[in-house]
Amino acid sequence: MYVRQLGVDWFECLAPAKLNLFLEVRGRFPDGYHELETVMCGISLYDTLWFQSVQEHTNVELEVVPVGAPFADVPRGADNLLVRAVTLLQRAQGVAVGARLRLFKRIPTQAGMGGGSSDAAAALLLANQAWGLGLTRSQLLPFAAELGSDVSFFLGDSPAVCRGRGEQLQPYLGAIPRQFVVVKPNEGLATAEVYRELSLDQPPRPLPAKLGDAQIFNRLQEPALALLPKLNQLMDRMRILGLSPWITGSGSALFAACAGRVRALRSANQLR
Ligand code: C5P
Repeated sequence: MYVRQLGVDWFECLAPAKLNLFLEVRGRFPDGYHELETVMCGISLYDTLWFQSVQEHTNVELEVVPVGAPFADVPRGADNLLVRAVTLLQRAQGVAVGARLRLFKRIPTQAGMGGGSSDAAAALLLANQAWGLGLTRSQLLPFAAELGSDVSFFLGDSPAVCRGRGEQLQPYLGAIPRQFVVVKPNEGLATAEVYRELSLDQPPRPLPAKLGDAQIFNRLQEPALALLPKLNQLMDRMRILGLSPWITGSGSALFAACAGRVRALRSANQLR
């Protein structure tokens, strides 16, 4: 993720969606959060975030422009994660000016694709640049971790193994697929509900050295299917096309690795 300047005072950042190619839950922390080992990679579906520093007031204003879908459930006010990200940095760094943000929203919500977290990471990078704060990415990491478990991953640029709550990152050096088809049903899933449905009675799987069709795995798939059984039918339709579907994150989006771009586009068209 990087920031570029648009004209005189607007800055832009492209905030990608992610897929979890491996997700194992290793335990539960005393505060109820889960200890994860997950491999995430960014994909070419992205939100676009614009940022303008404003001198007249110290408010952080957000306009959401839906691209392709209505996204009625994107919070617009102070409870939007990216508004919280900008406000957090503003307070911590004693910034005496405000900001105007415009979010072109493409990544579906409640999908397990990290859209809200990616927007928040983009907001941190944009505020840092537009306000001239001069913080390094490592200095932004504690802010990211405070905002949410997945936000830290999006400050990086490469596939990563994320441990702890998801905020402890290391590059993932094994081979991963490069083309995916992603299917998002109309229904979404709330992360906290999926974790509540999870039982920790299975032995944890080790992290694979590479991630092909045979190694892709997600411990949250079973509880997600229990909450949204319709996903089984979607998975069957994907299997008929020779794909091996998995949920990403806590769902409800499904993805499958594809051997090439042509195959991925053909599968997407057949499933649409
Ligand atoms: O950190 P974030 O706000 O993205 O997490 C959303 C919800 O997912 C949390 O409220 C928690 O219920 C669950 N969660 C968890 N363990 C994690 C990450 C998230 O239980 N490592």
